[in-house]
Amino acid sequence: MEIRSVGIVGAGQMGNGIAHVFALAGFDVLLTDISEDALKAAVELVGHHLERQVVREKITAEAKKAALARIKTTMTLTDLGQTDLIIEAATERETVKQKIFDELLPHLKPTTILTSNTSSISITRLASRTDRPEKFMGFHFMNPVPVMQLVELIRGIATDEPTYKTLLGVVEKLGKTAASAEDFPAFIVNRILMPMINEAVYTLYEGVGSVKSIDESLKLGANHPMGPLELADFIGLDTCLAIMNVLHDGLADTKYRPCPLLTKYVEAGWLGRKTQRGFYDYRGEAPVPTR
Ligand code: CAA
Repeated sequence: MEIRSVGIVGAGQMGNGIAHVFALAGFDVLLTDISEDALKAAVELVGHHLERQVVREKITAEAKKAALARIKTTMTLTDLGQTDLIIEAATERETVKQKIFDELLPHLKPTTILTSNTSSISITRLASRTDRPEKFMGFHFMNPVPVMQLVELIRGIATDEPTYKTLLGVVEKLGKTAASAEDFPAFIVNRILMPMINEAVYTLYEGVGSVKSIDESLKLGANHPMGPLELADFIGLDTCLAIMNVLHDGLADTKYRPCPLLTKYVEAGWLGRKTQRGFYDYRGEAPVPTR
């Protein structure tokens, strides 16, 4: 099936990055959110990031203009029903995702492919509650979406081959690389990345190192572009905790026990960059470690 139009649910950090790459690759994008301010902010941010690409001579000014013209927004979720492909990129809570799919289902074209950008929730379970489990897949982008090359493709137990092949073609058109993962908790990237981040928080919790020494060790000692605590702030500590809980519950192994210090930061509402405070305090000119 040829995909021309894409509906994106959620204009947050992932949704706006996904809108950016699809619009730049020539797809018509319809972006929705429950907040009008979030929609406005998302389109502005896409414009800002596209401009940066123009300045760095990665794209032309015409390509930027054309991409922005391809992005439309709506506050009405059901408007997305006529698009060829829907990517749900809402909050990482199963009840929220479920409610979105329930509301969308009666308005979908029979051919529309439904996907979720979930970083850890069972695709098979999400799919089973829709009218089209064979046309349902996990479509997991990495943050920041315009920069990261990888997209994880996760087939539920019922996903059919044409749906998988269609999404492989879409990833190719985006100029990205697909990795196929089986539908087990947190798939591939987060199954490996999150326990590392959680271990970094334990290292801090047990006093083995400070925020600065832990991040510097991994940056300079293992050539990671960001230290694990800086990366946790970048992803969002609530998201990191949610993924650790999915691993802990889904695999029933104590090695995935979320660090109590991670839980405490989330309880404090110190969720990382998005709330201006996490393992670093971002309220001043330069980030300052909070421990
Ligand atoms: N949106 C769009 N573009 C961005 C961006 C953003 N938020 N942040 C940076 N960029 C672009 C810049 O424009 C620049 O582009 P060019 O190379 O084309 O000029 C490029 O990224 C590099 O940016 P900077 O020079 O400003 O910064 P940097 O060299 O420090 O790189 C980084 C920034 C790319 C984010 C880098 O630090 C990095 O790769 N960090 C690790 C990111 C990572 O691991 N992401 C995966 C998280 S896990 C995940 O997403 C899965 C999940 O489910 C939780």
